Amino acid sequence: TMHNLIEKAYQTNDLSKEEIIALIETIKPEEREILYKRALKTKQKYYGNKVYLRGLIEFSNICRQDCLYCGLRASNTKVERYRLTPGEILACCDKGYELGYRTFVLQSGEDLWYTVEILSELIRQIKKRYDQEVAVTLSIGERGAETYQSLFASGADRFLMRHETATEELYESLHPTMSFTNRRACLNALKEIGYQVGAGFMVGLPGQTPADLAEDLHYLKELHPDMIGIGPFIPHSETPLGKEKGGTVDDTLVMVALARLLVPDSLIPATTALGTLHPLGREMALQAGANVVMPIITPTSVRKQYALYENKICGDDHPEDCRYCIERRIQAVGQEVDLGKGDSWKFIVGS
Ligand code: 5AD
Repeated sequence: TMHNLIEKAYQTNDLSKEEIIALIETIKPEEREILYKRALKTKQKYYGNKVYLRGLIEFSNICRQDCLYCGLRASNTKVERYRLTPGEILACCDKGYELGYRTFVLQSGEDLWYTVEILSELIRQIKKRYDQEVAVTLSIGERGAETYQSLFASGADRFLMRHETATEELYESLHPTMSFTNRRACLNALKEIGYQVGAGFMVGLPGQTPADLAEDLHYLKELHPDMIGIGPFIPHSETPLGKEKGGTVDDTLVMVALARLLVPDSLIPATTALGTLHPLGREMALQAGANVVMPIITPTSVRKQYALYENKICGDDHPEDCRYCIERRIQAVGQEVDLGKGDSWKFIVGS
């Protein structure tokens, strides 16, 4: 029965692909609530009621890739493109530091203007500026292993790169300019180099089945990343998938909860995409196993141009708005902001 499946996931942190598929296909609303409670309890076992904050700096929306779902894809000529200079990025960090953030996530499209030299210098400056008291997370997509190595040597601590979907055929159909094999090679290289690695996937991609989602969870279990980002696919009208259906809040929350149960020690963000789909999407994720929020500290002047999907929240807000908005939301669900670096459990205990 469903209760047995949820109980097994909770007790053993393991479900077979068949069990995951059965759970996804047959779970009822009341049973979802039980699943979320088990995921919340598992989160609390590892991380208590703490929610870690990361200041997100979206420093360039220029991208050489052409992913079918993404508003920043190279073929989308309707976006106004921007690049923040290293000086502007440092100014964002100063603002973020003042607001209490101790992790900066530097995210961009795949923009090779930011060479390994420029990025290395920037990372060194950030680490020095705050006396090594901050963690630097990169989310800049695919580069060579040597580049990843140099950036790590310059002081980058973490790297986010979602695997997007763990099914080769679906992956290849969505990423005409990239390969499934290289994506995995990048993730393996990052882990090998010593980064705290974040992987993850989208829910509700066109053609995605429960079997694909079971594959995602099994892949994550095997990779055992430090962080797992899961968000609903949201169609963007200026992409080839603009007319497709998007992912749902419920399906995404079920996957967040399952990720918590199957990879219990991971850091799991309540994603902006969930917050975009539902006004309380992120709060619901925090009550279903998520324990990280990544408020945006990108300058308001360029925020709306970083549109991976449409109607993204916080477009008119300023960094301080997001900082305190998020704190209120976290407290409203009975959890606490933790402004520390927020390393993963795995990183701390070294397993
Ligand atoms: N809907 C939801 N998520 C998206 N991403 C990119 N485009 C979309 C979209 N249309 C996600 C990808 C990427 C992350 C930065 O944003 O998973 O890795």
